[in-house]
Amino acid sequence: MAADEELGVSDRPCLHMISAFLALEPPGIVISFAREFGGGSLTESVQSCIWRRCISKADLKLQGPFLKRFLKKLIIEIELSGGIVLDELYEYYASCLVPLKDDGANVGNSKLLKTISFIFPNESRELEVRLRSSVNMLEGDTGCSVWPSSLFMSEFILSFPELFANKCCFEVGSGVGLVGICLSYVKASKVILTDGDLSTLANMKVNLELNHLTTGDHTSGSRLHDTKVQCICLPWESASEDDLHCFAPDVILGADVIYDPSCLPHLVRVLSALLKHERLCREKRPIAYIASVIRNIETFNYFLGLAERANLVVTDLTEMIKVSNFLPYLRSYDRPSIKMFRIHV
Ligand SMILES: C[S@@+](CC[C@H](N)C(=O)[O-])C[C@H]1O[C@@H](n2cnc3c(N)ncnc32)[C@H](O)[C@@H]1O
Repeated sequence: MAADEELGVSDRPCLHMISAFLALEPPGIVISFAREFGGGSLTESVQSCIWRRCISKADLKLQGPFLKRFLKKLIIEIELSGGIVLDELYEYYASCLVPLKDDGANVGNSKLLKTISFIFPNESRELEVRLRSSVNMLEGDTGCSVWPSSLFMSEFILSFPELFANKCCFEVGSGVGLVGICLSYVKASKVILTDGDLSTLANMKVNLELNHLTTGDHTSGSRLHDTKVQCICLPWESASEDDLHCFAPDVILGADVIYDPSCLPHLVRVLSALLKHERLCREKRPIAYIASVIRNIETFNYFLGLAERANLVVTDLTEMIKVSNFLPYLRSYDRPSIKMFRIHV
């Protein structure tokens, strides 16, 4: 009997351990799930499962620094508790210590591949999104990191798919493209992803391809292919109102876009133009959803003041809606810090 069958791969701690590993959560978090899975210790069966379900499937080139840190901590913890470390783990750790040929070329531009697994109530990992992103939030372009607001926006979309299904959805400041991939999953009729930063857009396109979504690709039978996705360079400062009216979206989304006071007048102008385009029927007026961490209350109040002057109605939905927790294993994701706002004219 395989070790993970013996221990029950579908057991919640095992599922969480694998999902946390794939999402490149801090090694201590992955190991705490592994301990829970092993009934309090890092048994050989647990190690075998880590080897077969996590390490042997990883990509040393794209996940090398994480694998090295994870294995080092795992091996130390097993040795300290007097356990026997599997040979495969020692051998793989040794291979992580050999520098990769193009290590030097990537300095200052390092990207990692992480997988965000949305765990649905039946405990299966139904939606797995692969994302090439910066090693950490301080490295590389702002839009190449996965920000917590986009995790919350993704959970919001998966919790209320009816708000987005068969709708034309337009995102501002799309970053890595996670929200767009979730919109595609819930069958938005059209997904328009935008960002003002060219390297972010290039990375976003790589991520769409990693998830079998390419702009305008309707050819495959996979669920993720059914939606038309566009990636557009849209700096808020230079977006013309005529161009914005042409998009005529039903829903506008933005995750973690309220942080730079100098950009806010332009962002509000863009939201206003997208929300105010002429529609035949008032009930069908577009709605914007903005997920945000309020890091600086003055900046946020400035946004609210600009929105009011543009005759936009901003409602805090955070306490009014129940967004499902599809990411219970992401312990580094500070869910309560995120607020969800609805904006309309
Ligand atoms: C903090 S990141 C959030 C990215 C993504 N929405 C997420 O939550 O993971 C802000 C994003 O807004 C984009 N952005 C910032 N200022 C912008 C501007 N003036 N015009 C267009 N995009 C902008 C950045 O390039 C970046 O992708």
